[in-house]
Amino acid sequence: MFDLVIKNARVAQPDGSIVDADLACKNGRIERIDQTISGEAEETIDAHGNLLLPGVIDPQVHFREPGATHKEDLGSGSRAAVRGGVTSFLEMPNCKPATIDQAQLDWKLNRAAETCVANYGFFIGATRDNLRSLNTTHPACGIKIFMGSSTGDLLVDDDKSLDRIFSSGERLIAVHAEDEERINQRTAAILSDPSNSVTHQLHSEIRDPQTALIATQRALGLSKKYGRRLHVLHLSTAIEVEYLRQHKSAQVSCEVIPNHLFLNTDDYARLGARAQMNPPIRSPQNADSLWCGLKDGIIDIIATDHAPHTLEEKSLPYPDSPAGMPGVETSLPLMLTQFKAGKCTLQQVQNWMSIGPAMTYGIPNKGWIGEGFDADLTLVDMDRYHPVRDEEVFSRAGWSPYTGLELTGWPVYTIVGGQVVFESGRIRPGVYGKPLTFSRPGT
Ligand code: DOR
Repeated sequence: MFDLVIKNARVAQPDGSIVDADLACKNGRIERIDQTISGEAEETIDAHGNLLLPGVIDPQVHFREPGATHKEDLGSGSRAAVRGGVTSFLEMPNCKPATIDQAQLDWKLNRAAETCVANYGFFIGATRDNLRSLNTTHPACGIKIFMGSSTGDLLVDDDKSLDRIFSSGERLIAVHAEDEERINQRTAAILSDPSNSVTHQLHSEIRDPQTALIATQRALGLSKKYGRRLHVLHLSTAIEVEYLRQHKSAQVSCEVIPNHLFLNTDDYARLGARAQMNPPIRSPQNADSLWCGLKDGIIDIIATDHAPHTLEEKSLPYPDSPAGMPGVETSLPLMLTQFKAGKCTLQQVQNWMSIGPAMTYGIPNKGWIGEGFDADLTLVDMDRYHPVRDEEVFSRAGWSPYTGLELTGWPVYTIVGGQVVFESGRIRPGVYGKPLTFSRPGT
């Protein structure tokens, strides 16, 4: 007896081809994929010819628990995730208190076990003096270093500390690459210049492309010097793409987020503080280069950097308005809308959002649809367009920078570990995710 059978699906293959098939799940795994499956099942779903994809693995989200649960918590963030077809996520350490030791990591793991409807993994955050914890906390998907300051108080920007972290241990290091010194200099200069009217647009001027490039170059230099596995988070500029095109080695990977692909500095006029994030949105030419970098394979994966803040917080004048936008529930429809428009292939979407993140972080048995793989799946409707609406957002933030945009590829079912967790716009109670495991050295 199967736990779940999905009938009449169009099943995406890792090479991007699609086969008409039924799929059966048992004990959390994909047990069979066949033209017709007729065995008994606890539950049978008719896919009505909708497209079955591997669940998205979102490798960069901020779910705010502990410390700022009015913006999001692990439960609400994970519900937003499955609404968007995301079945696993890697969560960042800039909470309050920050996730910088085993006790904080254990707290999150316990909380996630109680509340998360998607599978979960956590980064350990670097400080100037928690080197031991960085390499001994388990399980952690990697070390996060804020080289430039952002939300929260995690920051490591001095040579001595960075050298110590890059030279000890073998765990993957993921960097928020913005140069703190340049941020501080430009903040002081630009905000004190009386000819500047203080608007959110200044954020992209203060944290200019050079601010990102300097830190990305520094991180690559450290990775090369110590032979250390490096992941550059949310690339945002053409000059970083070109730098990586020249200098990226096998031990370096990088990502882009939809906000840098789909938004640009013209959007400040429409979105104001909602468009403020770190690293900031850029001029349109940068987005074009990021798209090229993705298609050329310079950029490996897509994350969302889901960073919810309430609209009340966002209504503060610049520079007091917080940086970050929610995004975990719109990334897959955004990319599938591009696929439908012929701008990228289904193979690319799977590589960037499911297979790639599983490979980058060494998450075994996930990312593909195939017999024996974990049954983390999302069934999406590629025929219907539906607008993003603030009032439909599951994230506690309650808004989206994409509101009003007509997207296709919205999930109709999301399945985590062979169990339906999201169906017809609602969360099914009683289904929970599991802690992710990582097969990379030092995890
Ligand atoms: O804009 C951002 N917001 N960038 C980050 O790196 C952090 C994030 C947050 O946590 O709010």
